[in-house]
Amino acid sequence: MSESTEVEGRRFPAPEQLTAEANVGPDVYQEASADRLAFWAQQARRLTWTQEWDEVLDWSNPPFAKWFVGGKLNVAYNCVDRHVEDGHGDQVAYHWEGEPGDTRTITYAQLKDEVSKAANALTELGVDAGDRVAIYMPMIPETIIAMLACARIGAVHMVVFGGFSADALASRLDDSGAVLVITSDGGYRRGAPSALKPAVDDAVGRTGSVRNVVVVKRTGQDVEWTEGRDLWWDDVVGRQSAEHQPESFDAEHPLYIMYTSGTTAKPKGILHTTGGYLTQVAYTHWATFDLKPDTDVYWTAADVGWVTGHSYIVYGPLANRATSVMYEGTPETPHRGRWWEIIEKYRVTILYTAPTVIRTFMKWGEDVPAGFDLTSLRVLGSVGEPINPEAWLWYHEHIGGGRCPIMDTWWQTETGAHMITPLPGVTTLVPGSAQHPFPGISAKVVDDEGNELTNDSTGLLVLTEPWPSMLRTIWGDDDRYVDTYWSRFGKEVYFAGDGAKKDADGNIWLLGRVDDVMNVSGHRISTTEVESSLVAHPSVAEAAVVGASDPTTGQGIVAFVILRESGQDSGDELVQTLRQHVAKDIGPIAKPRQIMVVQELPKTRSGKIMRRLLRDVAENRELGDVTTLTDSSVMELISSKLPAASSSED
Ligand code: WT7
Repeated sequence: MSESTEVEGRRFPAPEQLTAEANVGPDVYQEASADRLAFWAQQARRLTWTQEWDEVLDWSNPPFAKWFVGGKLNVAYNCVDRHVEDGHGDQVAYHWEGEPGDTRTITYAQLKDEVSKAANALTELGVDAGDRVAIYMPMIPETIIAMLACARIGAVHMVVFGGFSADALASRLDDSGAVLVITSDGGYRRGAPSALKPAVDDAVGRTGSVRNVVVVKRTGQDVEWTEGRDLWWDDVVGRQSAEHQPESFDAEHPLYIMYTSGTTAKPKGILHTTGGYLTQVAYTHWATFDLKPDTDVYWTAADVGWVTGHSYIVYGPLANRATSVMYEGTPETPHRGRWWEIIEKYRVTILYTAPTVIRTFMKWGEDVPAGFDLTSLRVLGSVGEPINPEAWLWYHEHIGGGRCPIMDTWWQTETGAHMITPLPGVTTLVPGSAQHPFPGISAKVVDDEGNELTNDSTGLLVLTEPWPSMLRTIWGDDDRYVDTYWSRFGKEVYFAGDGAKKDADGNIWLLGRVDDVMNVSGHRISTTEVESSLVAHPSVAEAAVVGASDPTTGQGIVAFVILRESGQDSGDELVQTLRQHVAKDIGPIAKPRQIMVVQELPKTRSGKIMRRLLRDVAENRELGDVTTLTDSSVMELISSKLPAASSSED
């Protein structure tokens, strides 16, 4: 693996020229495959355990795995206290930058005090180990402090992305049985304060389990107040002692629930636990990004409300004693160079972001980053969807100055941590491919019968061995856990839901979802969820939703709707109303890019909507096979509507 690669006439240097002294070398693959469990045990020893495990993996009852059985540790202690005890209390944990330009610097010693106070506050509010705590916050340090405080007392956090609606929050509070919500008055987005508390008031009013709402003051907006239920963070946390003794929890104690969209309308509560999760996020963060805690300034430019934020803004970086940047706002506020300004200001060395953002920057032009000093960067990362070679090359050249390797990391909310990725200084990069299973991870591409495919045949991605940071179940629904992930090829093979192919050099190419899940700007949205939102609107009789390829967002949501009464106004106004309806119902990220009002939908004889054909229409392609359609004239009808279809991007 030492030759250079040529892509579209450009030559990429061999890996050893990219990073001279990488944390891991090429022998790591051999070492891991020689004894996988010993390899993961070795990585678990990078953490501090109060009791060593008896067994690395218990897989006697698949697909219910137990990792580091009998081991005990405290996640917050591992992320914070031990670094202070080791003499790194003055090291910066986060350089936080608010969108309006306000800043905060938080050292490990300060983080320890703040987390301890918040842990004491949770206990005062009657939160016990195992209780669920919802966190619905903007990107401010208290979000991380709240997560760590939960981990410290063994409460299970359930972070809901601040862009989600009151409805989405309510269903998650309900499903998880949360006893407390931690929120704020609002946050800053696109140059203006946006509110969070009203959605909490709405959602909590509809659920029975929440006893208290703790509110962080961020913007100073007016908030409605429910006496006896609502408390200001500054009061309840501010009055606590900064002393708190962390208790050890079992390696399999639940750490958090993160809801993600599946193929049905009801989101799945993905459950992650303690020891295996922290082991794999910490080790992958260290190996994939070649993290050097003494010199690097690390930045995952994502929201803590997604798994990327959990694993690579909070747990991985802190467990590795990284100095991170955390930014509250959007990339174009107050100008399109904001990210590059931040990189220049803090001398960021590692940047981790998503292809959709890179394509947006491409649209804005290379002159924007060219105006800033980005020479501190040394490793780049990508996550969320396949990165197309054009975006890869632009990222490599205009952000990485042609010298930074790009780690295209494939993983999921369910996997908890990186699963397929190149390694800096080890892998000869191939733009567009996530390349190799991480050391200690077993991934294959298989056909419908489960036979392994190589040499560029398209098939399904499966994971053939359990891994430390795997989900343990779907909250409250073991059957759904088994059915969704571990049934297609038997109880010991994890079905990821992604199409993939493996080339002759052993590189894995991810080809997108094979189920009814869309990937919009790196966010997973279920077609069914958007369909049920549309049909809940009084004007809509039937709806079919597809993800159509989009040059910026990867996929865009395109909906086909049949209205209840014929002759009803089907004009632009109704289309806008329906788009707003979905945005309010689920969240702005689920707002359809385009809605086409049609008379009929293409269905098979068994009544199934043929999404494949709708996707062809939405992407302006020649129609595929229509022979199983009940009435193929339906498609002509739909296609003929295309030129008039309304599309707007806001
Ligand atoms: C789905 C998981 C992992 C955090 C962000 C998304 C797609 C993710 C890649 C990549 C190709 C990717 C897959 C996967 N995906 N990373 N590097 N190359 N596809 O987490 O919401 O759980 O979505 O995102 O389709 O199944 P998620």
